[in-house]
Amino acid sequence: MEIIKVANAEEGGKKAFELIKEGMKNGAKVLGLATGSTPETLYKEMTTSDLDFTDMTSVNLDEYVGLGGNDDQSYRYFMNDQLFNKKPFKDTYVPNGKAEDLAAECKHYESIIDSNPIDIQILGIGQNGHIGFNEPGTPLDSLTHVVELTESTINANKRNFEKVEDVPTRAVSMGIGSIMKGKKMILMAYGEAKADAIKGMVDGPVSVDLPASALQNHSDVVVIIDEAAASKL
Ligand code: GLP
Repeated sequence: MEIIKVANAEEGGKKAFELIKEGMKNGAKVLGLATGSTPETLYKEMTTSDLDFTDMTSVNLDEYVGLGGNDDQSYRYFMNDQLFNKKPFKDTYVPNGKAEDLAAECKHYESIIDSNPIDIQILGIGQNGHIGFNEPGTPLDSLTHVVELTESTINANKRNFEKVEDVPTRAVSMGIGSIMKGKKMILMAYGEAKADAIKGMVDGPVSVDLPASALQNHSDVVVIIDEAAASKL
């Protein structure tokens, strides 16, 4: 893992943007994208740049079960709002959280990943070390699946909802195995609340107890963190 320390999220967004720009110059066509507050500064760099994405495809990590693009707490809405409405892509994929047959949706989404191999995967990390919505205990070779969210994740994400009861309890998420298919990983983390997860990801054993630790088995991982997230390394 290559660790790049930055002063703050703004600088981290700029660094990640440079890596994407370089990747696109070298032929990258598919970006794996993430939601959450962490990648917001990257999306700001992308939308204010003069880089053209109309030839690019994006594949998002996850979506809440029960929410669709018109729900402003859905990840589809977030992506449209933060990025795609301002910077059009050729194709943008986000799991369909409103699919009637969720098992079929998971299979279908995995086939999308296989037909659009991800060149650069953007990742945030949960306080419990989750990537995408792969909570502790998720098999490291898992593919796209339906996830029961843990209480800690529901609590961490409730800030985007009016009340905690409104936070969906399930999500469709790319699995750890689906994520690991990507050629290059860029994981960003800012703030002290992420310090334990970063420590476990970098120095801990590769274990289902901390899903991001699987990245130790990937050959091209760049970790962009601020001092607070790096404070336990
Ligand atoms: C959610 C998302 C993850 C994200 C995590 C951290 O659980 N599914 O992809 O990495 O939140 O969010 P934040 O960046 O807001 O800390």
